[in-house]
Amino acid sequence: MTAAFTRVPHPSLVTAADRAVLMEDPGFGRVFTDHMVTIRYTAGQGWHSHKVEPRGPIPLDPAASVLHYAQEIFEGMKAYKTDDGRVALFRPEQNARRFAASAERLAMPVLPEELFLEAVAELVKTDADWIPEGEGSLYLRPFMIATEAFLGVRAANEYLFVVLASPVGGYFKGGKNSVTIRVSEHYTRAARGGTGAAKCGGNYAASLIAQAEAVANGCDQVVFLDAAEGKWIEELGGMNVFFVFKDGSLQTPPLGGTILPGVTRASIIQLARDTGVTVREAPYAFEQWRADVASGEVVEAFACGTAAVLTAISKVVSPGGDFTIGDGKPGPVTTDMLGKLVGIQRGRVADPHNWVQTIIEA
Ligand code: COI
Repeated sequence: MTAAFTRVPHPSLVTAADRAVLMEDPGFGRVFTDHMVTIRYTAGQGWHSHKVEPRGPIPLDPAASVLHYAQEIFEGMKAYKTDDGRVALFRPEQNARRFAASAERLAMPVLPEELFLEAVAELVKTDADWIPEGEGSLYLRPFMIATEAFLGVRAANEYLFVVLASPVGGYFKGGKNSVTIRVSEHYTRAARGGTGAAKCGGNYAASLIAQAEAVANGCDQVVFLDAAEGKWIEELGGMNVFFVFKDGSLQTPPLGGTILPGVTRASIIQLARDTGVTVREAPYAFEQWRADVASGEVVEAFACGTAAVLTAISKVVSPGGDFTIGDGKPGPVTTDMLGKLVGIQRGRVADPHNWVQTIIEA
């Protein structure tokens, strides 16, 4: 099935010269391409009005449900230039699937996975001039909001799906390859039965105060502990976390409804297991982490996600005292895993699981 996207002409595309300036050092999420894809949903009619249109403000009734009850979900994915000149996406079907799961959790209509993929590919092809050369990429932000003007508390009957694109470099300022994190003693991210496994804006809204506290204390990211016992490490403000043990094994908190099932997380688990590395998806207590770093049992830790890719954790700040991991530089396991993942994404090394999907041929 191929959906027909109406193309709305752009009145004033950014010139090649201005685009080059914007893309010199884009940072993360500050620069946007010329177009966006939009698709509307109305109960009884289904998905309709597929468009590729100039990126711009969205007319929204002030009573739209999203503005009151936060019915919103999103995804994060990237289009890459491969070394042989193709444009590719990394496991986009995983994002489509997770978007569908998030929609179900937020009582929103499920966008067919095929349509999600077509919409993303359509925007990448339309705005291909915005894909950075070198190590940068085009970050894609599909999202869906409830647009029905209605103040009763129930799932809305009208929705808007949008895809935005943004040329990006590294997620962290200055392209740093290791970060410091601070454990939140007051705030949690998700509880049993909540929305922790869904990629919804509300989860991020709830994390912002803890993230701001981390930044106020000189750290890059917050790390959340579980809501029930305040003991087990869950995830960072916007990324999953892995621990590297001295025997070479890896450990990461298990999915169980309170943790975002990261595509990068799943890929790292697979790549490690492919080479015979033991990976435990098992609860890990924050105080155990501190003890294991002190005893030398844990030798590295890293954060991972589409935006962050793989970033070493060099220091942990907590009410019970701070501790450092390694010498402030990414350790060998973190570096090796980053190289493997980026190597596959850029077409530099074999892709045994067919994760890379070519959108534009060389
Ligand atoms: C991503 O890694 O794509 C995310 O969505 C994390 C954050 C930028 C919200």
